[in-house]
Amino acid sequence: ALERTFSIIKPDAVAKNVIGAIYNRFESAGLRIVASKMLHLSKEQAEGFYAEHSERPFFGALVEFMTSGPVMVQVLEGENAVLKNREIMGATNPAEALAGTLRADYAASIDENACHGSDAPESAAREIAYFFSDEEICPRTR
Ligand code: CMP
Repeated sequence: ALERTFSIIKPDAVAKNVIGAIYNRFESAGLRIVASKMLHLSKEQAEGFYAEHSERPFFGALVEFMTSGPVMVQVLEGENAVLKNREIMGATNPAEALAGTLRADYAASIDENACHGSDAPESAAREIAYFFSDEEICPRTR
């Protein structure tokens, strides 16, 4: 099905200057970028985005890291976009990520793991709405 998913290029990957390399992976896999912006997340924005993890032991470190520098947030559109983006990213822990995935190539650890992607269409809708208004999303017909 034609889907949308939400993606973050995290502060570690922005600092490595690989935004374009990562966009190339998305585009080469047939995903289209239909919204995009650079943000330096506030503590409140990061805590709200990751609210489901608020009781996990890594929550403080996660918020600290995600606010440590600018991120790129984007909406990706395409056939099976949610799963396709997860395949492009690889496993959350780069030690378990398959060769050729973003995490294998760019992530240093499970905490600094280069990118985020929605895990299901329902979370994608929630995450997209957290960062983008409808007017900021440009459906691509060609
Ligand atoms: P992300 O997809 O952005 O969602 C939550 C993040 O928490 C995750 O990627 C990891 O970078 C980070 N994290 C740190 N430790 C863990 C863990 N044990 N399990 C899951 N996520 C973790």
